[in-house]
Amino acid sequence: AGVMSEKKEGDMHTSVTEAGAPPENLQESVAPAARCFDALAAEHHLDDEKIRSVLTKYLQEQELKPFQAELIHLQQYLEDTGRRMIILFEGRDAAGKGGTIRSVTRYMNEKHYRVIAMGKPTEEQRSQWFFQKYVSQFPRGGEIAIFDRSWYNRAMVEPVFGFCTEQEYNNFMRGVIGFEKDLVRQGTILVKLYFSVTKEVQKKRFNRRKHDPLRQWKLSEVDVQAQERWDDFDKVKYEMLRNTHTAAAPWTVIRSANKHLARLNALKVILNAVDYEAINQELDYVPDDEIVVSGAREIE
Ligand code: ADP
Ligand code: MLT
Repeated sequence: AGVMSEKKEGDMHTSVTEAGAPPENLQESVAPAARCFDALAAEHHLDDEKIRSVLTKYLQEQELKPFQAELIHLQQYLEDTGRRMIILFEGRDAAGKGGTIRSVTRYMNEKHYRVIAMGKPTEEQRSQWFFQKYVSQFPRGGEIAIFDRSWYNRAMVEPVFGFCTEQEYNNFMRGVIGFEKDLVRQGTILVKLYFSVTKEVQKKRFNRRKHDPLRQWKLSEVDVQAQERWDDFDKVKYEMLRNTHTAAAPWTVIRSANKHLARLNALKVILNAVDYEAINQELDYVPDDEIVVSGAREIE
């Protein structure tokens, strides 16, 4: 063993010396690659700004990857233990819920998760107990159910747009606390994420939706009014956080002005919510406290 380690040290020493002195032909060796890069950039009309944005996107994706890999282990743990998990994505339109959901599920085993985004309720659903359409989508053992909007529609969208009566709203605000407490007591892991944006950021994202053919589909009737009804939403948002941030089912607010940081930190919050053994101990799982705040702090 002594001989081996001496040999290794010797090797390292040699390579450090080599690295310290760049080869004289470096310029020459990268020249073909640089020429190729320039040609590609010219062919696709990529200016420096575009190149920077493509690289940034690539680097950001790389930063998410180890956390996305951990989510696969988390999923495996849920499957091994038969535990159920629900993650709620709430927040105003254009807060970045959809993009974050895609980062969460990107590498997951698709047999063990579902994303649930419900449209306008049908007549039949309207006639049911309010929670029924959501409960019918709840996870089985080992599964993650991701709700892209949730029963909290009745705390925000529905009262603001008059889709429910005041009594229905009040009933919900009272009932939801016991509903979630029971859900959690019976073993479901519940993570409630609220994506928060400023009025200005929402406006900017709506404008982009109007002009980008890949994003136009996201612009709905309801969205158009989100700016006009900003203050109404503010009011119900704070009511929601004040009344439904409980010990059993707390809210986590994700400030989403920077989409990448929102995604990265949401991944951390989700990983921290489950008591599985992290495989990669080198990662920093601590969320950024500029981005992630407790629902209790948001209403202070
Ligand atoms: P999203 O932003 O999730 O793509 P929308 O902006 O179109 O969807 O609508 C926001 C939410 O309002 C959705 O969850 C939708 O189900 C709900 N919603 C839309 N119309 C009604 C309605 N008439 N009654 C109750 N809920 C509705
Ligand atoms: C939203 O918040 O409405 C959705 O996440 C749309 C998006 O991806 O930004």
